[in-house]
Amino acid sequence: MEKTLNIPKHIAIIMDGNGRWAKAKNRPRVFGHKAGADTLRKIVKYCGNIGVEYLTVYAFSTENWKRSQEEVSALMTLFKTYINSERKMLLENKVRFMVSGRKEGVSKNLLDAIEKLENETSKEYKMTLNIAFNYGGRAEIIDAIKKARELDEEITEENFSKFLYNDIPDPELIIRTSGEFRISNFLLWQLAYSEIYITDVYWPDFNEEELDKAIYSYNKRERRFGGRIDDK
Ligand code: IPE
Ligand code: IPE
Ligand code: MG
Repeated sequence: MEKTLNIPKHIAIIMDGNGRWAKAKNRPRVFGHKAGADTLRKIVKYCGNIGVEYLTVYAFSTENWKRSQEEVSALMTLFKTYINSERKMLLENKVRFMVSGRKEGVSKNLLDAIEKLENETSKEYKMTLNIAFNYGGRAEIIDAIKKARELDEEITEENFSKFLYNDIPDPELIIRTSGEFRISNFLLWQLAYSEIYITDVYWPDFNEEELDKAIYSYNKRERRFGGRIDDK
C-alpha cells in the first residue's frame, strides 16, 4: 500500500456471504462461518499493519436469532473458540478487543470470556477490534436512550455517542461483502456520513488485496458532509 494514501481511521465491515460461499462448495453453512473467522484474523492483522485504528465487524445481528438453532449455536461456539484461539495474536499485535451488542440471550460462559479478553487487551494497544455481536442498530439507539435516562442526562447530537455500547469515532468507510446493497441494522447512528463500498466477493474470499481496493476507492471519493462541491 502506497504511503500517500489516506487510511481511514475507522473501517466497519458487514462480513456477509459465508453461507453462499459454503453452498457453492457443497459444504454446510458452518464451514463458511469457520472460513469467515480465518478471513477476520488476516484482516485484523493487516489493518493493524497499515495503521487503521478501529475495525468494527458485524458478526451476529439481533435478527440472526431467526436462523436454525443449529446455526445459531454453531455461531455462538465459533465466537467462543475465536476468543480463545486469537488471544495470543491480539496481544502480540497490540489489538484491543471489544464487543458491541446486547447481553440478553448470550450465555454467561461467553459473556465471561468476552469480558476477560476485553480487560486483558485494554492495557496497551495500537488498534481496536470492535465485534458487533448480538448487535442491532435500533437496539443500540434504544439502549443508549435508556442509559441516558437512567443517568438523567440530556441527549444532544454531540454527546449521543457516549451512551452507545462503545464510544469510538464514527467509521469513515463501511464495506459490505457478497454484493448486498443494504445496511441490515448495522451502526445506524454512526454511519450517517460513512462512505459505502460494496464488493461481490464473499467474506471467506475477502483478503488484503480486496481491502486495498476498498481503500483506493475511498481515496477517490469526495466527502462533502452536506457542503457544496466548491466549498473547499
Ligand atoms: C454472514 O454470512 C455471517 C452471519 C450473518 C453470521 P451469512 O451467514 O449471512 O451468509 P449468506 O448471506 O447466507 O451467504
Ligand atoms: C448481516 O448479514 C449480519 C451479519 C453480517 C452478521 P445478514 O446476512 O444477516 O443480513 P441480511 O439478512 O442479508 O439482511
Ligand atoms: Mg447474509
